[in-house]
Amino acid sequence: MKKVQFTETVLRDANQSLMATRLPYSDYAGILSEMDKAGYYSVECWGGATFDSCLRYLGEDPWERLRNIRKNMPNTRLQMLLRGQNLLGYKHYHDDVVEKFVELSIKNGIDIIRIFDALNDFRNIKTALEATKKYATPKTIASGCISYTQSPVHTVDKYVEMCKELKSMGFETICLKDMAGTMSPYEAEHLIKGIKDAIGDMPIILHTHCTTGMAYMTVTKAIESGVDVIDTATSCFSNGTSQPATETLFYALGQYGIETGLNEDVINKVNDYFKPIKQKYVDSGLLNPKSMATDSQALVYKVPGGMLSNMIANLKDMNAMDKFEAALAEIPSVRKDLGYPPLVTPLSQMVGNQAVVNVLMGERYKQISNEVKNYFKGEYGISPAPVDAALEAKILGEGGKPVDCRIEDAKRTGKEFEDAKAALGDLARCEEDLMSYICFPQQAEAFLKERKAKEENMATYTIEEA
Ligand code: CO
Repeated sequence: MKKVQFTETVLRDANQSLMATRLPYSDYAGILSEMDKAGYYSVECWGGATFDSCLRYLGEDPWERLRNIRKNMPNTRLQMLLRGQNLLGYKHYHDDVVEKFVELSIKNGIDIIRIFDALNDFRNIKTALEATKKYATPKTIASGCISYTQSPVHTVDKYVEMCKELKSMGFETICLKDMAGTMSPYEAEHLIKGIKDAIGDMPIILHTHCTTGMAYMTVTKAIESGVDVIDTATSCFSNGTSQPATETLFYALGQYGIETGLNEDVINKVNDYFKPIKQKYVDSGLLNPKSMATDSQALVYKVPGGMLSNMIANLKDMNAMDKFEAALAEIPSVRKDLGYPPLVTPLSQMVGNQAVVNVLMGERYKQISNEVKNYFKGEYGISPAPVDAALEAKILGEGGKPVDCRIEDAKRTGKEFEDAKAALGDLARCEEDLMSYICFPQQAEAFLKERKAKEENMATYTIEEA
């Protein structure tokens, strides 16, 4: 019987996409032991923006959150999203930091590490992969992830080549990550068939978003074409900018006799549990109903929804909404000049801002942002296609070549741990505290100070009581 498994995203991507990752652990602690019986392929629960949000907004230790989830879900594979050499942010870390982060993630309970790079420059995911292999338990899975985008150079053949490369690097599964929700059913069909023909024995996972309204069709075509795992969210946290609904796809696939391994009662209970939680955040305004609607703009304008709203906000700020059409038309040209990078953070903002500047100045590249300059210098990795030669010469000087940020020996180890120890003193009690500080210094320091203050108050209180 044909089998398709589900990854439940309510704790991470649905939470991140619909409500800026503000779900505190306490909101869902009560359903974890039930979720553990659902029969998911995995539960995505950590990484992405969860770590930052824990420290910055929720006063939670992200590592403690992970350990608590692990304790309450002993039987389910726990999954995280990792941005390769950038870990959970946008800067390149030294290899020793990346290795330690992976080691601690596995030690605190992660089973599946889904590793990607915004540019699909796989040199940027190599260290994280090697660390995953080094610290693997029998349950650990290293999943290689491709940032999906459309451009004249992003052909099925190109994606097949990427998959072959991920396989030869040693990844055990491959995920296609369609963050903008612009993969059409047609594209999914050709892509999955092409990949399956080339590397048939390796599980393929599809991660998409409902943003443009295509996800259910796309997922259905992907399943027909042989995809092994799909990412879905419990239905009250599904749709809009989130994933398609778990229960709905479970029902639809059941009629085809496709085995999902899911327990219907349990997945319904999970949804019932989250309904009042969702309502609480709709009422408080944290969950904007707009994010749950379908927005087909991305299909019309060929840029992701978030990038478009960012651009409109910039133009409004500068009182230049009359330049909207011109800026929109400039985006494909800037993207071509940059060698067709996938339009994900931070590249989507870089391309969008440069397009706006080009139009406002009335001359292309009269002003070039530092981010774009750094991109040409090679700091983000290799572009999918060659960059524009004239623009490269303008930025790097005649004959200038981008540096390879990965071959400098100095990049392999740094003094982040010493610096963190020096900065935190007795605020840090374990390697996890140091790692939080290395990733998000201000937020981690504020959190650790607060933790100490709370404990001191508690101690005084206990003594008085005694
Ligand atoms: Co996503």
